[in-house]
Amino acid sequence: MGTIVSLNGVLTAPEDARISVFDRGFLYGDSVYEVIRTYEGVPFELDAHLARLESSAHRIGMRLPVPLATFAAEVAQTHAASGNPDSYVRIVSTRGSGTLGLDPRLAEDPVRMVIAMPLNPPGPEAYRDGVAIALVSVRRNLRDAIDPAAKTGNYLNSVMALAEAKTRGAYEAVMLDHRDYVTEGASSNVFCVMGETILTPPLDVGILEGITRSVVFKVCRQAGLRVLELPLTAQALEAADEVFITSSIREIVPVVKVDDSKVGAGVPGPVYARIRQLFDAYVAEYSAARK
Ligand code: PDD
Repeated sequence: MGTIVSLNGVLTAPEDARISVFDRGFLYGDSVYEVIRTYEGVPFELDAHLARLESSAHRIGMRLPVPLATFAAEVAQTHAASGNPDSYVRIVSTRGSGTLGLDPRLAEDPVRMVIAMPLNPPGPEAYRDGVAIALVSVRRNLRDAIDPAAKTGNYLNSVMALAEAKTRGAYEAVMLDHRDYVTEGASSNVFCVMGETILTPPLDVGILEGITRSVVFKVCRQAGLRVLELPLTAQALEAADEVFITSSIREIVPVVKVDDSKVGAGVPGPVYARIRQLFDAYVAEYSAARK
């Protein structure tokens, strides 16, 4: 059990994994990344994560240094070398280093790495009792500035949002956009339930197209539950019967408090419980088919 790094394809102990201080990922956040979780050793929705890695690179005009199949092989190899039953896997690919300067054409020697670490998901109480979110004052990046659809190493927007949420005692930050529409969490997508309908902000509000969000769509629609992508206000979130957030590592976490207002009865609701069952069944089937 432990942490292992594949640096440009070479398995390395974390303390020996070194990159240049001139690397643009370090200097400017000029990199793209993915976070993947394994289940019974199988990287969940790997193809979707790799496709998003490529699309993130494309969105910032960066070429990935190796084909996606090489990343896939390195994910498998790094997880296997970690000895973890299941891993938190992070892929990072930077534009590289070179003469100091912002011009991307200066970049040489792109660095790629895969980090496999022991998985550390939220404790059972988060799922049993639910968590609190804070609607923070930090706004989500404009799509025309740094498009949130690209998962880049430039995460200060989320870092600042989460810092504010933590000072307010919340588990996760949820950011509004410049027009006051709900976007997403610092590192999660957000859903709410109103009556029979499950609602989540549309992609064009400026959010990451979460892989877990897509899986929630798939399992809900297969089960005949209605999911709609609609712009949501903070008031809508506060008035919802249920709220939950989704991300690869945390899966689906029920939210029982938005700032100072209790969501519904203040306990995880029945729609969350139903989606949780559907999601778990999907995960079990996915990993059994690929073991
Ligand atoms: N974060 N929105 C943002 C801003 C995110 O960083 C993430 C994921 C998500 C959820 O996406 P997915 O379901 O594909 O994990 C939404 C990962 C887990 C992270 O950075 O740790």
